[in-house]
Amino acid sequence: MSLDPFLTDTINKAFEDHGFSPKAKDQGFVAKLEAGIPLLAKLYFSLYHSHPQKDEIFGSLVGVIVEAYISRGADLKKRDAEKSAKGSWFLSNELVGMSLYVDRFAGDLKKMSHKLEYLEELGVNLLHLMPLFESPQGESDGGYAVSNFRKIDPRFGGLKDLLALRKEMQGKGMYLMLDIVLNHTSHRHEWAEKAKQGDGYYQDFYYMYENRWIPNQYETMMPEIFPDAAPGNFTWVEECQKWVMTVFHNYQWDLNYMNPIVLREMLDNIFFYANLGVDLLRIDAPAFIWKETGTSSQNLPQVHTILQLIKQAVLISTPGMAILGEAIVAPKEIIKYFGTGEFRAMECDFAYNATHMALQWDMLATGDTKVMLAAQSDILKKPYGTSWINYTRCHDDIGLGYEDRSIMEADKDPYHHRKYLMEYFSGRFPGSPSKGALFSVNPRTGDARISGTLASLCGLEKALESNDETGKDLSIQKIVMMQAHTFFLGGMPMLYYGDEVGYINDYSYADDPGKSYDNRWLHRPMIDWEKVEKRKTLGTIEQKLFSYTHMLIQIRKQLAVISDFQNIEWMSPHNTHIAGFVRRTEGQQFFGLFNFSHYHTVLSWHAFREKGCTSGKLLDHWTGHTISIGEDHEHLMFQPYGFYLLEVVG
Ligand code: GLC
Repeated sequence: MSLDPFLTDTINKAFEDHGFSPKAKDQGFVAKLEAGIPLLAKLYFSLYHSHPQKDEIFGSLVGVIVEAYISRGADLKKRDAEKSAKGSWFLSNELVGMSLYVDRFAGDLKKMSHKLEYLEELGVNLLHLMPLFESPQGESDGGYAVSNFRKIDPRFGGLKDLLALRKEMQGKGMYLMLDIVLNHTSHRHEWAEKAKQGDGYYQDFYYMYENRWIPNQYETMMPEIFPDAAPGNFTWVEECQKWVMTVFHNYQWDLNYMNPIVLREMLDNIFFYANLGVDLLRIDAPAFIWKETGTSSQNLPQVHTILQLIKQAVLISTPGMAILGEAIVAPKEIIKYFGTGEFRAMECDFAYNATHMALQWDMLATGDTKVMLAAQSDILKKPYGTSWINYTRCHDDIGLGYEDRSIMEADKDPYHHRKYLMEYFSGRFPGSPSKGALFSVNPRTGDARISGTLASLCGLEKALESNDETGKDLSIQKIVMMQAHTFFLGGMPMLYYGDEVGYINDYSYADDPGKSYDNRWLHRPMIDWEKVEKRKTLGTIEQKLFSYTHMLIQIRKQLAVISDFQNIEWMSPHNTHIAGFVRRTEGQQFFGLFNFSHYHTVLSWHAFREKGCTSGKLLDHWTGHTISIGEDHEHLMFQPYGFYLLEVVG
């Protein structure tokens, strides 16, 4: 079928405007553009069909796609081809990521280069460098309030340094992940500054209103994200005498994607990052990018249309870059970010497994797997070819946003259950070993999230304070079990810097006025390399945690069955303390079993037989021991917070 003449003209005009006359080597791109443009047009016009300049802006958006291809470096084009030859490179069991702040980990981008060796020693081969682009000091939200999408914040260095680091990393077989903050800009971004000065063109980039009439309509249904630090969703702008939508902090102005020019400009920024050599682009807070009065203004269908359009555009010009949607929303909503209906598996390649992350903490506090199992029905719907980022901790808080239904199915009351979890992790519950803090407490609803490092939440901080040796060992056991559970589920594990050597909470943020209102800084440590050196001294906490983490990574890298090919099946909860799953590929079968309780406990061999494993031997990759499968009345024994990584070997 020949292409619609409007689309043919659009392509020809884009080529002409960008001085592009395709040569033989460009035929692949031209073919993809011709094949993809009808879908792009369908997505675009479904959003902007009544915009007066819709055709012209569509033309310039296609121009952005063409320009992205033209300016993509030859090395990156080669890398694209290599990735596509490998198939879904990002599903591999060999990938292990780490999120880190360049300044807090290494100092700056140049110094980061000296730390690659350490990361290689650990086994990490994908780096999520937390936001690097210019962001005003004191009003930065950890870099998520960007004032210039193309300029590296001088405290990290410059673009040249980032490019040098990227090349060095990729030369070592490492992958680079960066963020694009799609939902908002800093109020110091050039667009916002012009809007403040009264420029109508740029005021249309944001949601701006002369009075409270429309803001009040929005407010009736919009939840608050930071109810204590930044209540409400609008901020009064003195300079232009208008209200502007600010869903996060008052210095983060929400971009208005009802204006197609905003989409075009941000797509251009996405390609700028793609052509810096980003392998995995983390789209920050996509759930919020489309707002409508009368709705919660989260997860609206138009959000998915925009993400699908972005994915299509990326596939055409910079196909080696995978996309991660940071949608930390209800389980039923998260799953939609992989695409639904005709767009199934054609939206985000990755999403955070935020539901499972929180459920792991739920299991740790209760010693009970029932809520986690009840919630799996949503998680397991992930389409083939897409993947999860699995994690125990990250730079953000732990939200308990899984469904009430899952809690009720486990015969618990949702309100009291969540209250218990909050008290347990904030250390208020009598006897709790945890030392976290409640984040974004909403006095109206009683909701709160949880801040704190992996180690502090697992009891290490309290054990250190009271010099309790048993407590220290138990917390180390918990940390390792939590990490192991994360590493062997389907998806890519994303470590959080500092956890590999047991960083406890850092309370110094309270003295910095730019941070004191946000206790997520508790768990954003400044790395002290003398502490890290202790990993080399036998018997230290740092040595134990580093070597255990390293071992888990090595085991994961050896087991092809851990690649994310939709091969996870949960075992029946014969023992409610034990979370157990089986994963299978041709010729390999793997059981991951984790005791979330502080009791010694057992599991009947019947649980294995039920999953088709009738007799033979199991190699426990964690201890190196081989175990024979016993009779139904015999048991596999578990230490408190103990676990097994079992491969069927005969
Ligand atoms: C994401 C980031 C978080 C930030 C928010 C607003 O959720 O992970 O740190 O505060 O977006 O940009």
